[in-house]
Amino acid sequence: MRERIAVFPGSFDPFHNGHLDLVARTRGMFDRVYVAVLGNPEKQSFFTVAERVEILGEVLGLWEDCLVDSFSGLLVEYASSMGACGVVRGLRSGADLDYEMPMARMNRRLRPEIETVFLLPRPEVADLSSTLIKQVARLGGDVSPMVPVAVARRLRQKLGG
Ligand code: PNS
Repeated sequence: MRERIAVFPGSFDPFHNGHLDLVARTRGMFDRVYVAVLGNPEKQSFFTVAERVEILGEVLGLWEDCLVDSFSGLLVEYASSMGACGVVRGLRSGADLDYEMPMARMNRRLRPEIETVFLLPRPEVADLSSTLIKQVARLGGDVSPMVPVAVARRLRQKLGG
């Protein structure tokens, strides 16, 4: 039978426990998951794309069905080139839905054979946002309960703590 492959794309700047929950649940539905970092040179980022890929490798390294990658250009073209039949995104709120819906519709126009699958994160991690985590970390707050250990360590290193 054909392998069912998903792409879980994002900026992951940084990857947090809400993302981890979604990757774990995506594994239950697909045979292989590409966790793919968007390489957007126009976007000012905290970690470089190479750093994010490295960190994700540390976090997800034990899950053999999860492969870490980066991409640029159109998401659906990347997904298609990896043989994926699904793109997985998380929905924390109505605001997320407003952001995701036009992208999902455009992606369907471009590649109708690739399904966008929306997952609701567990309530315990549904409030997490990379933007707020960066803000708290920069201001000296403890973000270690919100991110995987490797991410907390790299945040501390980068902030000189
Ligand atoms: O974590 P993010 O920043 O919310 O992820 C956004 C992402 C990577 C899913 C989105 O920016 C994206 O798909 N970018 C690739 C460009 C693309 O395919 N655009 C057309 C879809 S409308």
